[in-house]
Amino acid sequence: MKKFYKIDYGKQNIISSDVGAVSSSLKHQNLTNGQIIKKLESKLKKYFSVKDAIVCSSGTAAIHLALMSIDLKKNDVVIMPAINFISSYNVCKLMGAKIILADVDKFTGQITPSSIEKILKKKKLKKIKAIITMYMGGFPENVRDFFKLKKKLNCYLIEDSCHAFGAEIKHSSKSYKIGSCKFSDISTFSMHPVKTITSGEGGIVTANNKNLTKKIRLLRSHGLYRSEKYYWKYYSRYEGLNYRLSEINCALALNQLYRINKFIKTRKRIFRIYKRKLSKYNDYIQFPPYNNQISSSYHLNIVHLNFNNIKGNKDNFIKYLNKHNIYPQYHYTPIYRLKNMKRFGIQNYSGCEKYFNSAISLPIYVNLNDKMLSFVIKKIINYLDKFKKNNVQK
Ligand SMILES: Cc1ncc(COP(=O)(O)O)c(C=O)c1O
Repeated sequence: MKKFYKIDYGKQNIISSDVGAVSSSLKHQNLTNGQIIKKLESKLKKYFSVKDAIVCSSGTAAIHLALMSIDLKKNDVVIMPAINFISSYNVCKLMGAKIILADVDKFTGQITPSSIEKILKKKKLKKIKAIITMYMGGFPENVRDFFKLKKKLNCYLIEDSCHAFGAEIKHSSKSYKIGSCKFSDISTFSMHPVKTITSGEGGIVTANNKNLTKKIRLLRSHGLYRSEKYYWKYYSRYEGLNYRLSEINCALALNQLYRINKFIKTRKRIFRIYKRKLSKYNDYIQFPPYNNQISSSYHLNIVHLNFNNIKGNKDNFIKYLNKHNIYPQYHYTPIYRLKNMKRFGIQNYSGCEKYFNSAISLPIYVNLNDKMLSFVIKKIINYLDKFKKNNVQK
């Protein structure tokens, strides 16, 4: 079969109207702080059904803005997943916070209210500043239970929703978008090219509390504000940074936002095809048992390889797929493995270790057409078939 170009785990979808939107933004009077950012933020507010949506330069900047807005100080305790992209950890570390990494569920790769309670008990922690959750792959599990826990602990709940742009949960026959902050204080998103919509690089912070959103808006631009009467006079309220997103990036995000439902529908279809076609290989490859009361954004297609029935490890499988130009990913290496393991104590992370040994992200993105998808599935089946035959012969 003719080789396709590189099949990554994720990729952007760019069409001619995106190119048109970006190029016309360059002809506007303002390349930053103009009309496009206003329009984008207003559309995002409506999309998420939230009081305010503030766009910024990256998902990492969004997390930093969220944590600055709650006034995170040195030695404040923040609980977060031990398996996550490194952003939240790095931001908290740079802010001098005391980071507690909670274990994750061995299938979903997400922290749970009970994994948080367990670590709280173990560490005898009383005062918590914030919990940061992350909906691995775009499947928002335990949202309402985290909210109950936040109330019990009297702390902030920040959702690192970078995977969950477009995901929803159901409650009392109503649906709520992740980003509505119905069950959290702040939600943060990334618009990196692999995410649901892209602005090239970019991020979003959403919240309902006006004090927080006003502060985030100021923090995004050095903490400065201007006199309404005399435009040349300005004042400093907080120490902030430049986390603005240019009009050029906003133009791309705005044009992508018009296609968001289509994007999610396509991702869902791909996910379902994988699930259907690989269902006969249940003893070898498994999909996490996600809660059926949630709608995913299908950001990642995470599967678990069963190494009781497959010889070797994840790297063997990845190298095999690489030979066919298919590039799956790890999401993610546990943070304690990237840092000083002894300090974190690997014995506290049996869920993470199990998840990390078996989880792999298979390609899922809008441009993955049926031909490419069949090719990927065929190659996976060929790999698994070798073990199936051997196991039958035993
Ligand atoms: C869960 C999670 N958090 C944070 C980030 C950081 O976002 P960005 O790359 O836009 O800074 C990412 C992006 O990869 C992510 O996946």
